[in-house]
Amino acid sequence: MKLLLILCAFSVLAVPGYSASSGAGGAIQQTVDIIRFIKEVTQTILHSWSLIEKLPVAEVTAGAVIYEHQQRLLQQMEAVNGNIRRLEEQQALSTALTIETLLRKTRDQSSLLHRLAQLKSLMKLVDIRYSQLGDYEQHKDTLEPSTLLKFSLWSVDPAPDSLSSQLELLVTCLYGDDSLAIDSQNDHSLLSDLTASFEADPEQMCLGRQSPQQFAYHIFSTAAFTELKGYALMEYSYMVLRQLGRGNFTQELQLMREHHQRRLAEAQRVLHQVMSKSGRIYWRCDPGDQKQHVEEKTYSRVTRLLQGFVENEINLNEGQNCWGTCDDHHDSSPTGCYQPENELCGQQPPCKGRLYNCGFVESDMTICPASNDSVRRYEYISFGDGPTLGEKGDGECRAKAVEPSSWSYWLFWRCHYCFCLCDEPGPKSDRYFNLRDSVSDFGRNRIVTGVRFVKHHRVFHLQLQQGELLPRGAINISSLEWQPLEELNLTDSDLRDGYDYHTLSADSRALDLDEIVGNATHHVVTGVRFRVLNKHLNLEVRFTPFNFSTGLLVEPQTKSYWLGNTNAQRQKLIVKDGGLPTASELPSLPLSKTNQFMEFTSSSREKDAAQNTVPFVDVQEVVPQPPVPLVGLGIYHKGRPGYGGFFAPKVVTFDFSSNLFDSLN
Ligand SMILES: *[C@@H]1O[C@H](CO)[C@@H](O)[C@H](O)[C@H]1NC(C)=O
Ligand SMILES: *[C@@H]1O[C@H](CO)[C@@H](O)[C@H](O)[C@H]1NC(C)=O
Ligand SMILES: *[C@@H]1O[C@H](CO)[C@@H](O)[C@H](O)[C@H]1NC(C)=O
Ligand SMILES: *[C@@H]1O[C@H](CO)[C@@H](O)[C@H](O)[C@H]1NC(C)=O
Ligand SMILES: *[C@@H]1O[C@H](CO)[C@@H](O)[C@H](O)[C@H]1NC(C)=O
Ligand SMILES: *[C@@H]1O[C@H](CO)[C@@H](O)[C@H](O)[C@H]1NC(C)=O
Repeated sequence: MKLLLILCAFSVLAVPGYSASSGAGGAIQQTVDIIRFIKEVTQTILHSWSLIEKLPVAEVTAGAVIYEHQQRLLQQMEAVNGNIRRLEEQQALSTALTIETLLRKTRDQSSLLHRLAQLKSLMKLVDIRYSQLGDYEQHKDTLEPSTLLKFSLWSVDPAPDSLSSQLELLVTCLYGDDSLAIDSQNDHSLLSDLTASFEADPEQMCLGRQSPQQFAYHIFSTAAFTELKGYALMEYSYMVLRQLGRGNFTQELQLMREHHQRRLAEAQRVLHQVMSKSGRIYWRCDPGDQKQHVEEKTYSRVTRLLQGFVENEINLNEGQNCWGTCDDHHDSSPTGCYQPENELCGQQPPCKGRLYNCGFVESDMTICPASNDSVRRYEYISFGDGPTLGEKGDGECRAKAVEPSSWSYWLFWRCHYCFCLCDEPGPKSDRYFNLRDSVSDFGRNRIVTGVRFVKHHRVFHLQLQQGELLPRGAINISSLEWQPLEELNLTDSDLRDGYDYHTLSADSRALDLDEIVGNATHHVVTGVRFRVLNKHLNLEVRFTPFNFSTGLLVEPQTKSYWLGNTNAQRQKLIVKDGGLPTASELPSLPLSKTNQFMEFTSSSREKDAAQNTVPFVDVQEVVPQPPVPLVGLGIYHKGRPGYGGFFAPKVVTFDFSSNLFDSLN
């Protein structure tokens, strides 16, 4: 009868109380709510004790009965530990960053590495003891009765290398020691230093796929699991000892719990400090190395906006003469083909648009045309022994090379070839941006959790990932989905340029670089769109207020608003001589600031014969792991000097530092 009661008490613990009481799948909230999980485990354990304590101390019983006790206790603990392990695994799945990978990725900071290694070994010690319990679980049927007793005695042993000293050391190691801090504002706890290192090192962020604030929380959670395991081990051991008639341990238990609470409080205090000063921006790195750039998977291109094009000057003026120079033609249309049989214009597809920025080129040239299905016109243009425009590669031209040369017109005019930029809208030129609103399904409490550029039927869209918002800033992971794209069919006569979509052109091809953040803390992103402002594509973001404790959007129909940056005094960011961004050996870094803008332009004349439009557009998804509510969204430019770089979206994660700890105290 007594035994049954104890087991019932334990089974409260064994129920996945965490996920049931928090109203969401355990898989979902653990990433945000380890603090709450600890709280609940602690409370359930205390609850079990209160039931146990109502019973008299176990009579000294015969061996067989003790064995039975042990078996049942082990079974119960198995369930509790299963819960802890499962949540820990789920937390590990949420990011590739572990203490081990951090040890590998943290460079040139020996003191940080040293402390990190210390942290790792402390966590390891607790983990080993804990996994020993796992072994007992597996072999419980063949375990000697005294083994569990020994294990329990050892877990609560107050020796210097005891479990509780390990946990104390762990807190000191990760969160610093109060008595050592000169002033508490200027703490340099390991947590703070790790977060700063994460923020400064894109490589870590690439791996972690989260904002620095999320990272700080992740490290805290990792350590919190160790604390929780140690604590559960000790509670459990005292239960066993008490059941085996080894004493009441009232005072010991009280001390142990006080220490546990103190450690948690200290951890949370430092976590709060670190989180409130750490960055919340997440941007997406280039894929692994340059070989992993795949068109339409990791990047996409605007095509044939301003493309290198060779034309004879005789075809550049109405009079069909060669009296001027190439430089006279900074904006003209080709006027035909004077001598189709002898001239380049008879051997290449014409530029059916306008020609800009023409300049003289040496006459003795070889042009290697690109294949028909390429967006390039030329693979390369070479000049005798001189330079080559574009990549000559192995020197072989797969198509039939053309060798135009300037010629005399009448006796004294020389008709030169010019190198111009051809702006040719048409079926080969993808240069459209969706201007319609994309909003999350706010009626079903969905908010934006991620974003990516997509080129769909030749139109660029900012596509949204949405997810259901839950209480305390959690996101229902099983509800995550990419929103279907607006079907914009350019051949549809109902569509209006400038209204449904924007067409880039020589005089309207700039993208404003901004980071739009809501004007209050509890406003999350629920939509995004582009508009055309001063001929620039300009980002607007929609925000909706929400209630942190209920997780519900507040009157999303009426209280949502669009926000953009209307500043017209923007600084122009210029790519000089931009090579293909996919050819850069080094990973891109963000190069733009808010209140700047940048134009789509032609790639480097020397490196690429100006055949491409740069920057490219990064189409990788920008989704922090684990998903969190977003409070801001932006467009920026990333790249390396000498390369055209990419336009890409970035996100700002919700600030948990001011919310996470409030409702718990
Ligand atoms: C999470 O989303 C799934 C799929 O939309 C749904 O079935 C489930 O009920 C949601 N869970 C919560 C806690 O809202
Ligand atoms: C254990 O606690 C019970 C009740 O709280 C008390 O009656 C008993 O004397 C205690 N035993 C020991 C060994 O302290
Ligand atoms: C390229 O276009 C030319 C002329 O239009 C045609 O003869 C040739 O077959 C095409 N080649 C390819 C690979 O499509
Ligand atoms: C666009 O509309 C045209 C005419 O209605 C149709 O033939 C074409 O298949 C559509 N394209 C796409 C991509 O839906
Ligand atoms: C936020 O900005 C919107 C749009 O400018 C405005 O309507 C709203 O009143 C602002 N809210 C706060 C809290 O400032
Ligand atoms: C959030 O919702 C709860 C329950 O409806 C309410 O008590 C609380 O005042 C709300 N908080 C805010 C900030 O509106």
